[in-house]
Amino acid sequence: MGWVMKKKIVVIAGTRPEAIKTVSVVRALRALPDFFDVVLCASGQHREMLPQALADFGLRPDINLDVMTEAQTLSVLSSRLFLAVDELYLRENPAAVLVQGDTTTVQVAALAAFYRHIPVGHIEAGLRSHNIAVPFPEELNRRVVGLAASWHFAPTGLARRNLLAEQIPEENILVTGNTVIDALLWMRELVRVDAPLLPAEAEEAIARNRRIILVTGHRRESFGEGFRNICRALLEISRRFPEDRLIYPVHLNPNVRGVVNELLAGAPGIILCPPLTYKPFVRLMDSSYLILTDSGGIQEEGPSLGKPVLVMRELTERPEGVEAGVNILVGTTVEKILETTTRLLSDREAYQSVAAIKNPYGDGRSGERIAQFLRNRLERFNIENVETLWRRASPPAPQA
Ligand code: UD1
Ligand code: UDP
Repeated sequence: MGWVMKKKIVVIAGTRPEAIKTVSVVRALRALPDFFDVVLCASGQHREMLPQALADFGLRPDINLDVMTEAQTLSVLSSRLFLAVDELYLRENPAAVLVQGDTTTVQVAALAAFYRHIPVGHIEAGLRSHNIAVPFPEELNRRVVGLAASWHFAPTGLARRNLLAEQIPEENILVTGNTVIDALLWMRELVRVDAPLLPAEAEEAIARNRRIILVTGHRRESFGEGFRNICRALLEISRRFPEDRLIYPVHLNPNVRGVVNELLAGAPGIILCPPLTYKPFVRLMDSSYLILTDSGGIQEEGPSLGKPVLVMRELTERPEGVEAGVNILVGTTVEKILETTTRLLSDREAYQSVAAIKNPYGDGRSGERIAQFLRNRLERFNIENVETLWRRASPPAPQA
């Protein structure tokens, strides 16, 4: 075997879930130091929540682009990202860029790489709600990234089929499982030997064997009336089940914090706290009885911990859990959230049948699969260039 030049990979993450979901890929790439030189870049879209998420894995960004502003709009965020990311690519001149998921950071980082003819690998590719407005703006983002990317790491067979239906060539898709399961299983082991401290009221609830209903929510399409309904439903659940405790680590987005504090602060049975770092959050998920959320990542994590997840959304791009029965779509109306929550909290048999369902999202080895694939492709990339790659990625136009 001849001499191989090290390949510089820039991994970009902007928000909390991207941090958690890129950790295992960064680790797997760094386990091949003769082949890869890995630069982990935080866009700064989440100024506090991203470094918090990485810290529990002992990781820090090598570079921080520091783009966040208070209550940022999508256009201001995107324009700041374009300038910062483009300068990053110019300076680092990477052999490839890796992005994860569907946030604004991901969309802009993928487009800016495309403009510079840098190949992009997309982790968690192929999720589709098939409704461009839901989730907003993530469905648009992930479709754009699908067009700009050269390599598509699909978490499930369904995600792969979605990509094939959009004419992505089969050889550029790898089914890997979801990298969130890598992070979760690793952290769960750590938490079970060295339990991190939770906020005092949560510790008390666990010590007194209260059933814990864990709540999170942040989706843009639910801002306003959707969030008000979610809060009203939570209030009614706390009235119907006064022995149980609802614990809600509140997202830092001011559109979320405002309504939640206004409607829920001080309510009996409801414990509000700031976002938790990943280690205590995994302990809280593991200690909970039921999860109510609109989060993408938590829909994937809940089943691995044997927790039923009630999804407070009208539509999900993660139907695997819903089909398996472990995730239940409850929408954002008070009646529907209440009906399903009440059933699972009152009917032990119904609860057990949901909790016993197996996780459909992966086996904890996704990061290694992605690193091996990149190694194979980038070895070949010595003799290919990005235009050849794109020609292969664009099927011929249909004949008239
Ligand atoms: C973003 C993503 C969403 C993802 C979610 C994960 C976009 C458009 N949205 O939503 O896809 O599911 O992250 O949580 O990419 N803030 C802070 N500190 C932080 C983070 C946020 O103060 O560490 C506040 C800021 O005022 C910021 C606002 O929250 O302007 C909104 O942040 P932004 O990243 O635009 O949207 P999210 O709702 O967090
Ligand atoms: N999470 C966390 N602390 C919290 C809430 C969530 O560490 O207080 C983790 C959670 O376990 C999951 C990820 O953050 O891995 C999900 O992030 P979020 O719900 O913000 O985004 P989404 O997955 O919806 O894009």
